Amino acid sequence: MTACIVGWAHTPFGKLAGETVESLVVRVTNEALLDAGIAAKDVDEIVLGHFNAGFSAQDFTASLVLQAAPDLRFKRATRVENACATGSAAVHQGLKSIAARSARIVLVVGVEQMTTTPAPEIGRNLLKASYVREEADIDGGFAGLFGKIADSYFQRWGDQSDALARIAAKNHRNGVGNPYAQLRKDFGYAFCREESEKNPRVAGPLKRTDCSPVSDGAAALVLSDVDTALKLGKAIVFRAAEHVQDFLPMSRRDVLKFEGCALAWKRALAQAGVALSDLSFAEVHDCFTIAELIEYEAMGLVPEGQGARAIADGTVTKDGVLPINPSGGLKAKGHPIGATGVSMHALAAMQLSGSAGDMQVKNARLGGLFNMGGAAVANYVSILERLR
Ligand code: COA
Repeated sequence: MTACIVGWAHTPFGKLAGETVESLVVRVTNEALLDAGIAAKDVDEIVLGHFNAGFSAQDFTASLVLQAAPDLRFKRATRVENACATGSAAVHQGLKSIAARSARIVLVVGVEQMTTTPAPEIGRNLLKASYVREEADIDGGFAGLFGKIADSYFQRWGDQSDALARIAAKNHRNGVGNPYAQLRKDFGYAFCREESEKNPRVAGPLKRTDCSPVSDGAAALVLSDVDTALKLGKAIVFRAAEHVQDFLPMSRRDVLKFEGCALAWKRALAQAGVALSDLSFAEVHDCFTIAELIEYEAMGLVPEGQGARAIADGTVTKDGVLPINPSGGLKAKGHPIGATGVSMHALAAMQLSGSAGDMQVKNARLGGLFNMGGAAVANYVSILERLR
């Protein structure tokens, strides 16, 4: 591949009182440039991932990045959007500019502010990323859609409540070590398994602990070509970056198969020339625990219908064969829509550079990540390796 991550920044995720979309963007822009050792004047292109869909009154946000430094004025800056995969869409856009040699250094920022929006509007805004003609009337926002997916999965493959609770408990346990995480609490399996006043049912079989929270936050990356990266302090190279887009209506596909996710993993592994078993860890899109369960199958870790096996036998725990979501995933970390994909890349870069602190997976050499928009509509897989 032609590009590397050479610097990164990450705000804490959560309810960030006093912050705005602009303040978050400015903060991570300056921190990422500083981390990379790159001056603002040397940036060739800026890509901002921001979903919005009503969360912030300010649309047309690409130029907010320029507020961070006068030397960013007159740079190319564009906002991209691809639902919950908006952050990875921004990263991949930056990679294309570098591959096309139209940029040497690209600044990628992902941001979202969700918590200032009243609860009923949050669900309505998120459902703009469903196939509105058929799916937007569902109760419970996106949790309602994934609740239906969980119901269908249970009908086809049997009740998976134990597996979903194990996934939630694993990710919350991992999230304790993540200084950027919104929920840094080890809830434990029993709490996640039982419906209770503190863990009520949200939609279908999904309880509160099966859902990612509503979050504010931002993350940023500095990308560069390999030659430039080798002259800088750190270089995490893209061995692969694949994007597969599927039909939007769930009625046009078997939604339990996550076929776009499966194809993106297959193509990315082939592009990198590696097998799934070569990965040291993976960060995957656990917007709801049922999504992580189906992703075990789609990525090829276990056969279809047997996702539960990967969590029951410890394969995906932090000390397992393939640690999944050592950061705590969206479940614990939070899911500020436009920031999530950029955050996944930043966290993978931290792992591979050995700077992940309490999240660190031992001997992390090769990392994979999967970021998804909708129910496996927009599917992005990146495979990263430390170059220096
Ligand atoms: N997991 C675990 N705990 C959570 C949580 C979550 N997802 N969301 C909130 N909490 C905790 C809060 O920290 C708070 O704890 P406290 O009482 O100890 O302070 C408590 O639950 C109540 O918080 P509140 O914000 O009132 O919860 P809620 O019931 O209004 O919201 C959800 C919970 C699950 C409905 C909400 O987080 C949600 O809608 N998530 C899905 C977001 C989404 O669809 N994203 C897009 C994905 S594609």
